[in-house]
Amino acid sequence: MSATRVAVVTGSNKGIGLSIVKALCSQFQGDVILTSRDEKNGKTACSTLNELGLSPKFHQLDITDKESVKRLAEHLKTQYGGLDLLVNNAGLAYKVASTAPPEEKARVTVGVNFFGTLDVCHQLFPLLRPSGRVVHVASQSGLLRRIKNVELESKLSSATLAEDELVQLAHSYIKEVVEAGEGGKPKNWPHDSAYSVSKALMIALAKVQARDLASQRPGDKICINACCPGYVCTDMTSHKGPLTPDQGAETPVMLSLLPDASPTGDFYYLKKVIEW
Ligand SMILES: NC(=O)c1ccc[n+]([C@@H]2O[C@H](COP(=O)([O-])OP(=O)(O)OC[C@H]3O[C@@H](n4cnc5c(N)ncnc54)[C@H](OP(=O)(O)O)[C@@H]3O)[C@@H](O)[C@H]2O)c1
Repeated sequence: MSATRVAVVTGSNKGIGLSIVKALCSQFQGDVILTSRDEKNGKTACSTLNELGLSPKFHQLDITDKESVKRLAEHLKTQYGGLDLLVNNAGLAYKVASTAPPEEKARVTVGVNFFGTLDVCHQLFPLLRPSGRVVHVASQSGLLRRIKNVELESKLSSATLAEDELVQLAHSYIKEVVEAGEGGKPKNWPHDSAYSVSKALMIALAKVQARDLASQRPGDKICINACCPGYVCTDMTSHKGPLTPDQGAETPVMLSLLPDASPTGDFYYLKKVIEW
């Protein structure tokens, strides 16, 4: 076991995640672990950074596979004895033109973006060192007003919302989509975007976790924030966003390197706190 500082970036074989690893390799003091659900893609991504003179480490990670997350947790525990930075960047979005059934879109999108991120947090938070940083790469698509239901918006943003209540809300969304069926509308949740719902849930999660950690670990200086990287040219946006992946990485990297006593539980867009 070593006392070397260590950072983990999920879904970092391409896009914004790869740019986050690239920036952290020169700005984070410690090892930076590039993770990918596909080992070959991850190792290829590491090689492209090696060619730039950077030396990320590699570890396989599928955030929806509990055993894969467990293997990463074990690796961090034995090799580093802790974790200093976790960037929850892995995510997916169905294309607008996708004809997949709404039930599938809801299950898979919320399954990866919210439940996958939540499982990574459950398994890795016990390893967070006292000055740990956590960044959830969410989106402006998850702005509260897009929920378009006053009661739900108030539940999601409640200062007393507990994590298990948030999990129940996520399940209630999927249940409503299933009950509505093809062409139907969920009773309370928006019908047009599983992605927006998944990102709203991620932002709510950052706020709940920031409160929980502050009360469970008083005296520690852990900061957990969510952010939108902007509209970025990646596979996810079919390369339509105006920002480069390196520009998209700027906000998550800034939050990764926040000094102690920085705010926690906030939502950032283009390096500034914005109202959720
Ligand atoms: N691009 C934008 O304009 C934009 C705007 C707002 C927010 N975001 C957010 O920024 C993050 C990065 O997006 P991006 O634009 O860089 O997209 P991207 O190029 O599609 O990259 C997504 C990454 O997530 C990985 N991933 C997907 N499911 C995974 C799983 N189950 N386990 C582990 N990794 C998984 C992908 O791996 P594979 O290569 O194996 O699929 C890939 O490495 C996402 O959370 C996205 O929602 C992006």
